[in-house]
Amino acid sequence: MASMRINELLQQSPKEQKVEVNGWVKTFRSNRFIALNDGSTLHNIQCVVDFDNFDEGLLKQIATGAALHIKGLLVASQGRGQTVEIQVTDLIVHGTADPETYPIQPKKHSMEFLREQAHLRVRTNTFAAVMRVQSTLSYAIHRYFQNNGFFNMHAPIITGSDAEGAGEMFRVSTLDPKNPPLTEEGEVNYKEDFFGKETNLTVSGQLEAEAYAMGLGKVYTFGPTFRAENSNTSRHLAEFWMIEPEMAFFDLNDNMDLAEDFIKSVLSYVISHCQVDLEFLEKRLLDEEKTKPQAERSEMPLLDKLRFVIDNKFIRLTYTEAIDILKNSTPNKKKKFKYLIEEWGADLQSEHERYLVEKHFKCPVILFDYPAKIKAFYMRLNEDGTTVRAMDILFPGIGEIVGGSQREERLDVLLDKIKALGIDEKELWWYLDLRKYGTAIHSGFGLGFERLVQFTTGMGNIRDVIPFPRTPQNAEF
Ligand code: 4AD
Ligand code: MG
Repeated sequence: MASMRINELLQQSPKEQKVEVNGWVKTFRSNRFIALNDGSTLHNIQCVVDFDNFDEGLLKQIATGAALHIKGLLVASQGRGQTVEIQVTDLIVHGTADPETYPIQPKKHSMEFLREQAHLRVRTNTFAAVMRVQSTLSYAIHRYFQNNGFFNMHAPIITGSDAEGAGEMFRVSTLDPKNPPLTEEGEVNYKEDFFGKETNLTVSGQLEAEAYAMGLGKVYTFGPTFRAENSNTSRHLAEFWMIEPEMAFFDLNDNMDLAEDFIKSVLSYVISHCQVDLEFLEKRLLDEEKTKPQAERSEMPLLDKLRFVIDNKFIRLTYTEAIDILKNSTPNKKKKFKYLIEEWGADLQSEHERYLVEKHFKCPVILFDYPAKIKAFYMRLNEDGTTVRAMDILFPGIGEIVGGSQREERLDVLLDKIKALGIDEKELWWYLDLRKYGTAIHSGFGLGFERLVQFTTGMGNIRDVIPFPRTPQNAEF
């Protein structure tokens, strides 16, 4: 007989039928009640052993964390808290777990402690719930694009370009660091490197997605991206996954409409498919909030917050309007911001973004038309000659969740920009070709997957929504 997953077992009506199940012991009470979990659901199945029928040595091995194979009869439960349970007839211990050393004992663990046990933390309710939610989110994202005429593409991970022009790249090289080949000028000679040129891990698949959008019409990438920025915050990873749709014949308004509809759609999907896990995470968050000072507590329970985003139109305003609001805001006047907003052109920090979203509008915000100076080279220049058709979506508790723009499709304007920024035109020859042959307006954006998971699950730190986080000074596991 085939083993069933616990989520299926819990749907069965109990008729004393024979069942088999595999899983890990959450708790073992009174030498009689095993709470077994197999990851398929938050819920455990209770397995009742009659200790008279089992060898004492075997029962000793049933500790928290042990892996078991259980055969038994599915019966209506006598106890409270579950409708069905298994009366155990056979029990095989795949592997026990020594209670003296197994770190995931049934008690509260700090997130910091669990980060050090990242290989085992998925056996806690919290991390298993987060992982199931992120898997559903990932599916919902593909589903949305596939249902809306987009084609998925994989952009290269190793590249010679710096799409964002921020110089925050991890080098990819097979040269001997102790004894690299040198040019006559005494510089490292990358012509002798594996690819015959300098290469790095990609910071974004956008430039390649643009090429494919200009043939397939609408494409999206969903892949890993890497940033060597030394930001030790609860929102930054050195390795994260980004979803980047790119659409030919879309202007900035079309782009904003798509991004808003996309986010609302995937959140709705998750709400209707992850109810048990989201309710658990909501309760976890409420418990956590109780330990925080009043001012730092979130005003809405998790599910209300998700529904709020789905039900309300995102506020759209220009960077210039946002600067006016920020300049006149109380924290700016009282010098409470770390970075005071003094003039137009200032780059917005996360404290400003969060003020706009959490205090001023109390709603997701799309900021657009940013100063060209603070944005990437590929964004379309407005008629005013100083702002570009950029847009960022700002979320409560997260700050920037999406960054995107209408792209500069005019060859002459793009060339001027590239020259002014000192970017090597030869490196971008293929990107410029897209403007030489059949150019058209086009737009796209990037959504940080882990930031979306963070928002959806209410987890405070981005390190707790990706299995094995990579951050400065940390690449364990
Ligand atoms: O705003 P960014 O840098 O935009 C781009 O890379 C564009 N090429 C996207 C495009 O138009 N196709 O990054 C996009 C998003 C951010 O809004 C944020 O959600 C996420 O990626 N992000 C990070 N997430 C985690 N850790 C980091 N270090 C991140 N940097 C950006
Ligand atoms: Mg950005």
